[in-house]
Amino acid sequence: MTDEWIRIAAPATTSNIGAGFDIFGIALKEPYDIIEGRKIESGIVITEVSGPGSDSIPLDPSSNSVGIAAAEVLRRCEADFGIEIKIKKGIRPCSGIGSSGASAAGGAYLAHILCGEKLNLTELVLCAAHAEDVTSGGFHADNVAPCVLGGFTIIRSYEPFEVISIKPPEDLGVVVAMPDVLVPTKESRAVLPKEVGVKDLVFHVGNASCLVYAMMSGDLGLIGRSVKDAVFEPARAHLVPHLKQAESAAMSHGALVSFLGGSGPCIISFYDKGSHNGDQIADSIKSLYAENGMKCDTWVTECGSGCRRI
Ligand code: HSE
Repeated sequence: MTDEWIRIAAPATTSNIGAGFDIFGIALKEPYDIIEGRKIESGIVITEVSGPGSDSIPLDPSSNSVGIAAAEVLRRCEADFGIEIKIKKGIRPCSGIGSSGASAAGGAYLAHILCGEKLNLTELVLCAAHAEDVTSGGFHADNVAPCVLGGFTIIRSYEPFEVISIKPPEDLGVVVAMPDVLVPTKESRAVLPKEVGVKDLVFHVGNASCLVYAMMSGDLGLIGRSVKDAVFEPARAHLVPHLKQAESAAMSHGALVSFLGGSGPCIISFYDKGSHNGDQIADSIKSLYAENGMKCDTWVTECGSGCRRI
């Protein structure tokens, strides 16, 4: 049995977003992975992985995010077929913008389409989060949730699992800067504290609550003031050379806020598309890294939809 190839675009995502460690995430318009697949008799077979960082990605489906997530969907749907998969990475691994999450969500979405869309989207998020658990050292869904659902996602609870998605303001621009350093999520999670104090908890709840309100009401100034992290970014800052200088450069070129994306090393800057120029923010960070002898890729983008068929 073979069938026609279908193609899925699975977007990059930025997670944590200040005070929402493992809770908040946003789907970005660019960059994205392309996951292609077709039905075969049985099993998951990955025949090609291309694109940036693809030489570090295993073809073995039991240790590949796409393969693990797709297999979980086939299992839940009791499918009587397998899938041949080709992966075109647009998001380099160890970037902090949900590279493994995009692959996992794309694999889950591909299998979902091939199975006749029997699962609901929350179940798809869980299938993708299962792959994240296997490959990145912790069950977290703050990248795969926006990658499946689109928009700004909030995980209210992991057990039982409940997630919602809200539409971010239209004029919220996003600059992604990716310095040329690899930060594996496993390592970046290993440096985190196991407990937080009441003072930090109070600070995080206040900022997280106001960020949700600001996203819903479109208050860009409040978004800028509410993306604050007293715990996780400070613990990880040493993993990303020149992080604080890069954030300052973005702020002095009009960003509303600039912060560590997910587990790093990406630096995310929000800006008002109506009044500021994202290219200037991107160039300021690029120049800073160039002055320090490091390459830095940038994307001037915006919030986007979740996985889609292309
Ligand atoms: N919330 C996760 C973390 C995202 O910060 O470890 C990983 O990309």
